[in-house]
Amino acid sequence: MPPAQTETQKTAARYGLAVVAVGLAAAAKLLFDPALEAESPFLLFVVAIVVGAWFGGLGPGLFATGLALVVCDYLFLAPLYSFGIDGPGRLLDLALFGGVGAVISALVASMHAAQLRSAASERRFRLLVQGAKDYAILMLSPDGRVTSWNEGARRILGYEEEEILGEHFSVFFTPEDRQEGRPEHELRRAIDGATVSEETWAVRRDGSRLWANGSMEAVRDGEGNLEGVVKVLRDRTEARRAEEALRLKDRALAASANGIVITDPNLPDGPIVYANPAFTKITGYAPEEAVGRNCRFLQGEDHDQPALEELRAAIREGRSCEVVLRNYKKDGALFYNALTVSPVFDDGGRIVRFVGVQDDITERRRAEDALRVQAEASEVLATPLSYEERLVSLARLVVPRLADWCAVDVVEEDGPVRRLTVEHEDPEKGALAYELQRRYPAPADAPRGVPWVLKTGEPEMMREIPDELLVQSVRDKRQLGMLRELGLRSYMIVPMIARGRTLGAITLVSAESGRRYGPEDLEQAETLVRRAAMTVDNARLYEEARREIGERERAQEELRQSEDRLRLATEATQLGTFDFDPVTGALLWDARCKEIFGLPPDAGVDHETFLAGLHPDDRDRADRAVRRALDPAADEAFELEYRVVGLGDGAERWVEACGRTFFEGGRAVRFIGTVLDVTEKKRAGEALKRSEERYRAVIEQSTEGIYLLDADSRRLLETNPAFGRMFGYTAEELRGMEIYDLVAHSRENVDANVGRTLELGRVLIGERSYRRKDGTVVEVEIGASTISYDGHRAICATVRDITARKRAVEALKRSEERFRSLVRYASDIIVILDGDGEILYESPAVERVLGFTVRERMGTNAFDHLHPEDREPVARRFAELSREPGGRISAEYRTRSKEGDWRHFEAIGVNLLEDPVIKGIVVNSRDVTERRRTERALDEIREAERGRIARELHDGVLQDLSYTAQAMEITRLKCEDVGVETDLEEGAEAIRRAARDLREAIYDLRAHRDGAQDIS
Ligand SMILES: Cc1cc2nc3c(=O)[nH]c(=O)nc-3n(C[C@H](O)[C@H](O)[C@H](O)COP(=O)(O)O)c2cc1C
Repeated sequence: MPPAQTETQKTAARYGLAVVAVGLAAAAKLLFDPALEAESPFLLFVVAIVVGAWFGGLGPGLFATGLALVVCDYLFLAPLYSFGIDGPGRLLDLALFGGVGAVISALVASMHAAQLRSAASERRFRLLVQGAKDYAILMLSPDGRVTSWNEGARRILGYEEEEILGEHFSVFFTPEDRQEGRPEHELRRAIDGATVSEETWAVRRDGSRLWANGSMEAVRDGEGNLEGVVKVLRDRTEARRAEEALRLKDRALAASANGIVITDPNLPDGPIVYANPAFTKITGYAPEEAVGRNCRFLQGEDHDQPALEELRAAIREGRSCEVVLRNYKKDGALFYNALTVSPVFDDGGRIVRFVGVQDDITERRRAEDALRVQAEASEVLATPLSYEERLVSLARLVVPRLADWCAVDVVEEDGPVRRLTVEHEDPEKGALAYELQRRYPAPADAPRGVPWVLKTGEPEMMREIPDELLVQSVRDKRQLGMLRELGLRSYMIVPMIARGRTLGAITLVSAESGRRYGPEDLEQAETLVRRAAMTVDNARLYEEARREIGERERAQEELRQSEDRLRLATEATQLGTFDFDPVTGALLWDARCKEIFGLPPDAGVDHETFLAGLHPDDRDRADRAVRRALDPAADEAFELEYRVVGLGDGAERWVEACGRTFFEGGRAVRFIGTVLDVTEKKRAGEALKRSEERYRAVIEQSTEGIYLLDADSRRLLETNPAFGRMFGYTAEELRGMEIYDLVAHSRENVDANVGRTLELGRVLIGERSYRRKDGTVVEVEIGASTISYDGHRAICATVRDITARKRAVEALKRSEERFRSLVRYASDIIVILDGDGEILYESPAVERVLGFTVRERMGTNAFDHLHPEDREPVARRFAELSREPGGRISAEYRTRSKEGDWRHFEAIGVNLLEDPVIKGIVVNSRDVTERRRTERALDEIREAERGRIARELHDGVLQDLSYTAQAMEITRLKCEDVGVETDLEEGAEAIRRAARDLREAIYDLRAHRDGAQDIS
């Protein structure tokens, strides 16, 4: 390859050409001058200029012009061979030639450049057209024949150029299009000036079809004359196939029963960019609600799922994975989402999308769950536990696979319905359901629910629980709120029925799972519950059998024990036994029985012996009783008390006998029983009766209210007249009345006192408020003790009216309280001492109370001011206090006032030595001198009161008693007279009065003493 010319060489060549052209022109002129006209010396040089400009461009053209001017001037213009200008004519010629040369140079150069450009552009165009392999570009003549054909056309339509040139372009159309005249129609439109674009089927040379996208446009020359029509055509068959495939895919996506989401991992948080209609169908979310969000919104709050770990890892590592997730629909319902996630890569291997395919497998899962539950239920129901425990296990098995809630109610054997359990995955919700049931038990006559199912024995199912139903069935807002909180959706209640008996019901409720029960679910539940019912029935039968066996065994054991007991008892209690055979007349007595009848152990006995041993006065009665006991028609228990006269020893004894007859075939076959010597008891009983009568008389006459209370029932057993008077009731009204109705305190309080009395045996309950029949309250003082009454525990209480005394004490207390607050207000002194008792500070009250100025005692030792008797004990306690930071003591002491009298103080000291501000012991002293004085005065008053009482006792009681003594004496003298009883009665009355007064006086005295203790 020759080396490329440089720019300078090219320029030199162009100008060299101009020089050569001018040189040749000059040579030709010189050579042919005689033949050429003398007047046009420039003519030949024009040619040189044209050549210079054409091949060299404007510069060489102008250069040739200049050179020609010089050459002509020198060689051909006169004076020849000089450069002179001999006149204006010659100058004009030269100028004219120069101008013309310049113009020619410019024109020729530009024409040449234009021609070059046009040739280049045409070449480029041709190359383009020829080179365009993907486009068929063909020219058509105005009548539609092919006039040019490129490579693309050959490739696309299959014709070689030589075979298609001159052919009508309609060969590329399908027969159908040709029949419709489309080729002509399109050609005409193009010729009319339209750009005809279309996409249609075209036909190749081999008859195969291609999907072509083409356009046709008329081509006109510069003057607008039609030169032909250009047709450009592109093979879009593949693209169309791809688009169709894509469209198909789109349709497939849209038609898929699986939810499909596409996410973009290159956007923040990998949001959904596409969701198909099935996604909406499964989740309830419209695409526009999902697009832009991460799929995790489907998990609601339920993010703690192990499958998510696997999913996260797969997404992180850019691989496919399959998981099952718990997801929640827009309405909150749970669904199991079998999700397949796969990455989509671009050509560079970068992940551009993730595709998620969702399959709602909830139903499948439920069906599997149901099967599994049925299988596991068999195991649970067969465990060796109580049936209650087995039912609870069954309920746990059911939750959450068949229901969100499961409640089990059982009908107890004696009738009432018991809720055995309520199960929920979340124990808090379970508790809420229990609470609901406790607060709002379903009324037994409810038209639906467990009571109804138990009543009818028919199952109940509700696919959708409407809110109105809740509203209708609740008792108040709170219940409605609780029910709504549970979020109940659908329920089934299935009765447990076995052998025609309804044993309970199992309730299955769906809530947060959003599940709606249908007939199939009910069928499944019924199968399950039927088995549960059988379990309950079998268990109950078994338990019944076991109970019966147990009872029988127990009865036998009891019998054995009772026989043992009887034996022991007879030995211990000295019971005698008899065993009589009415058929044979044989009578057996044990040694004790014989002893009671005064016989030796080996004595023989028969019925006659028995009759002979009876006391004559009791014989008939006893004989009759025995006959009645043996009479099958009478059917009477034998219980008898009679006397015997010892057959051997003649001693009279009281006997308690009891026995039982056994009958067979309507006649007595055995009569056995016991006899007990109750002679001692009888005697003691009589003594007791006498003492009881005495005791009763005392009670009747007592001025204190007395009552006997049954400790268990808290009811009054007996009351004396004083008690009735005190509260305005008759004895009849009081009998059986509950003590709570009388006492004006709470039941608990009464019970506490009864309990205390029973525990301690005897207590002074103290002051109490009782209520009269008219409702007014009486203040009383109670003392109580426990006694045994007719074999029961009873409380005997004495009641004394202390209303008057209370009032007096209250008044005194009030006045004292007033006084106390007055004193307190006036006399508190605050002193701060150091650890040794030196006074650091005294409050101004010291002036008012003791007469010292606040500075006067400062710096002195506080103990120096104390009464000598108080100094040592107070100082000792103070020393203890000073060793105990934060400690506190109280003390009483006397200190001298400025005037020299001793005053009493109560003080509280607090150790604040470690307090950074106080750094001392703070003593708060209160002057109690006046109070002490008052107490002394009160003591004196009491003393006086006691004196008064003693006097009254002396004057009143003593007189009464002397009068009585006299009266009795007189009575004794008149004892033969008529009316003795009346006098005696009067005497007795006087004595009673004396005793009463004496007692009152004693209480009075005691009240004052108690009061004094209260006050102090
Ligand atoms: C394509 C694709 C589809 C997904 N579809 C679901 C879906 O249907 N339900 C779901 O709970 N999570 C789906 N996920 C998972 C969540 O988007 C998220 O990756 C998952 O919760 C773990 O990430 P996190 O820990 O950031 O929540 C999908 C993820 C991808 C990439």
